[in-house]
Amino acid sequence: MNDFIISSLKKLKEKKIPNPEIDLRILLNYSKYSKHEIILSNFDLDQINVNLFHKALNRRLANEPISKIINKKFFWKDDFYVNEFVLDPRPETEFIVEESIKLIQDNQSNLKILDIGTGSGALAISLAREFVNADILAIDISDEAILVANKNIINKKLYNQIKLKKISIDLIDEKFDLIVSNPPYLTKKELENTSYEIKNYEPLIALDGGEDGLDFYREFANKINTIMKVNAYLILEIGAKQFIDCKEIFSVSQLNFHKKTQDLQKKDRIMVYSKL
Ligand SMILES: C[S@@+](CC[C@H](N)C(=O)[O-])C[C@H]1O[C@@H](n2cnc3c(N)ncnc32)[C@H](O)[C@@H]1O
Repeated sequence: MNDFIISSLKKLKEKKIPNPEIDLRILLNYSKYSKHEIILSNFDLDQINVNLFHKALNRRLANEPISKIINKKFFWKDDFYVNEFVLDPRPETEFIVEESIKLIQDNQSNLKILDIGTGSGALAISLAREFVNADILAIDISDEAILVANKNIINKKLYNQIKLKKISIDLIDEKFDLIVSNPPYLTKKELENTSYEIKNYEPLIALDGGEDGLDFYREFANKINTIMKVNAYLILEIGAKQFIDCKEIFSVSQLNFHKKTQDLQKKDRIMVYSKL
């Protein structure tokens, strides 16, 4: 193997970066001149912008997540632009898309969908891809997140299907067939104890759910019934220990608990409510 590859790998291994080979390959491809995929075994230094590569490698050596360095994160079926102002979309949130598809089997129907706290726009965009005739409103209160979501919507040419607004749930006065949300839900304590990567590279506004992590669910429970059509569903992501509290909170909502879904670690992560 090339000396350049050996010394770069050594640096990543010394810093105990998990999956150093994979990260090295991603960083080389991020720094490459041509469109051809770079593989470690037949790498040649002429293929990359060495300056750009070193800057990116140093950021990774300082434990910055690879997604924030290359401004790209995969979710559901697409790559999304991400930066420090939006949460990296997570695999557990894909369960919201999966549940939506199970609940609404007619993928051609003219649904009205609301995505509360859209961040990068990952959920709204993935739902737009699955429900091609849906009319989607994606909201967020972060100016910077709205810019990122807008960039992703334009990149994917979905501006006719997804409308973005910088507002919070209390200003919504339309009714929807499907409401989805992955709100901020970390408790104060979880926020204090979270990993270096999350603390330093994910935006606080996407994580902070108040003292007990449940502020957003309380707000939803008081309002959501009034913005759901008769046959509507609500699909919410929750923290791994929040199912019992959330069920209690939603008992004031006049909605019917439909089901919960567990993630791959068998933790309750998705709650589904229906109006009927
Ligand atoms: C956990 S992130 C989820 C982002 C994206 N939906 C995802 O799943 O990857 C929560 C998002 O809610 C937004 N947010 C925080 N408070 C809000 C509020 N009061 N109203 C609307 N959005 C809010 C944050 O800016 C952040 O983008």
